[in-house]
Amino acid sequence: MTGSTTRLRPRDRDAILSALRTGVVPRAGFQHIQVGRAAEITAMSADVDRIADGGSSVRFVIGEYGAGKTFFLNLVRSIAAERKLVTTSADLTPDRRLHASGGQARSLYAELMRNMSTRSSPEGGALAGIVERFITSAVKEAAATGSTPAAVISGKLDVLSEGVGGYDFAQVVTAYWRGHDTGDDVLKNAAVRWLRGEYATRTDARAALGVRTIVDDANFYDQLKLMAGFVRLAGYTGLLVCLDEMVNLYKLAHTGARNSNYEQVLRIVNDCLQGSVAGLGVCFGGTPELLMDTRRGLYSYEALRSRLAENSFAVGGLVDFSGPVLRLAGLTPEDMYVLLERLRTVFAAGDPQAYLVPDEALVAFMEHCSQRIGDAYFRTPRNTIKEFVNLLSVLEQNPGADWRDLIGSVDVRVEENPDLEPLAPEAEAAAEADSDDELASFRM
Ligand SMILES: Nc1ncnc2c1ncn2[C@@H]1O[C@H](COP(=O)(O)OP(=O)(O)OP(=O)(O)O)[C@@H](O)[C@H]1O
Ligand SMILES: [Mg+2]
Repeated sequence: MTGSTTRLRPRDRDAILSALRTGVVPRAGFQHIQVGRAAEITAMSADVDRIADGGSSVRFVIGEYGAGKTFFLNLVRSIAAERKLVTTSADLTPDRRLHASGGQARSLYAELMRNMSTRSSPEGGALAGIVERFITSAVKEAAATGSTPAAVISGKLDVLSEGVGGYDFAQVVTAYWRGHDTGDDVLKNAAVRWLRGEYATRTDARAALGVRTIVDDANFYDQLKLMAGFVRLAGYTGLLVCLDEMVNLYKLAHTGARNSNYEQVLRIVNDCLQGSVAGLGVCFGGTPELLMDTRRGLYSYEALRSRLAENSFAVGGLVDFSGPVLRLAGLTPEDMYVLLERLRTVFAAGDPQAYLVPDEALVAFMEHCSQRIGDAYFRTPRNTIKEFVNLLSVLEQNPGADWRDLIGSVDVRVEENPDLEPLAPEAEAAAEADSDDELASFRM
């Protein structure tokens, strides 16, 4: 999937370049710049196959700040989409967490639902189409078997009713069917809103759909499992969920709040490692501190530490991808060279005649960066990529300029990792308030 020799549409080219220039991972077309990671991709492809076969998987994609975690998660999503999984991802933030009592877990859920993608809707927003697909396939099946759609639908949804909250989930999908059947778009929309976790109160949900529950902080993960079951009923092979920026849990100041989040992580790890959930994969993205810090990281939670402990023989370049922790090594200088080649190609929209610089310039650029910041230029490539794209931009717009004159003035810097700065006081206060609520609810 190199794509390096294919012509690029100007729109795709511009989207890739503007993402890279601002330091973010391009959403679409990142295959055009992808380098390295062959072994990691093989490991993840096997996981995706397992999920698609009705199994499960959990991975912690661990890498230094800027090492390529988000890029890798996107790559895994595209592999999963090829295997007909539904995929989604969300960044954790102070307002989006796995466990909370002030709406932050529901908020994370809602974000995941908004970002649901399939191969035909890679940009997110796929949920409504998935529900529609479930209904239309049930209608077809009913026609083929001489049954009624209602009977087929309720037969299929029976499987979900066994899970926690499954009864209401099934009710909501059935309400969608009623809306579909009677041309009631308001009802259909209400059902989709419910599934997206957008109802804030039970009263509203009850009035609109006749169900007693909503997606809320307390049932985040149960709902996710139901959704994994549902996408399979709709004809997909499973659900892959990527949770990035997990360092936000590490940053929670209050031990109680942090531990209740880690407890959710543990539930997910246990389910996915034991295979007690079908068709669900979860990939967490985080920095080494998040994993290994014994005071505030995942290792501070004893049960997680024992499950996530890495193979002590896998050191010094040896790897073991059989455990849940997948370490992303930095890119190599060779990867970086290929990456610069790819960037040059993207810039030229795939046309070798339009290259703005010769190979020699790629080498000179790497040497320059290496002198400026040492190894960091390929281990955390964001700034290197940014500056290279900027260089090509200047050359493109100033046909008289010579790359030799420009390279010397490229100002590439080591990335500062802002991630570990303490939470703002308000956020911290909110976290503590939460955790007090949590304590109260434990005592009930
Ligand atoms: N395998 C790769 N091939 C090509 N480019 C890559 C690859 N991995 C990462 N990049 C590029 O490197 C830069 C940094 O990657 P990314 O944002 O994924 O890092 P990260 O580990 O998620 O960083 P952070 O810790 O800030 O979240 C991005 O511009 C991305 O496009
Ligand atoms: Mg990232």
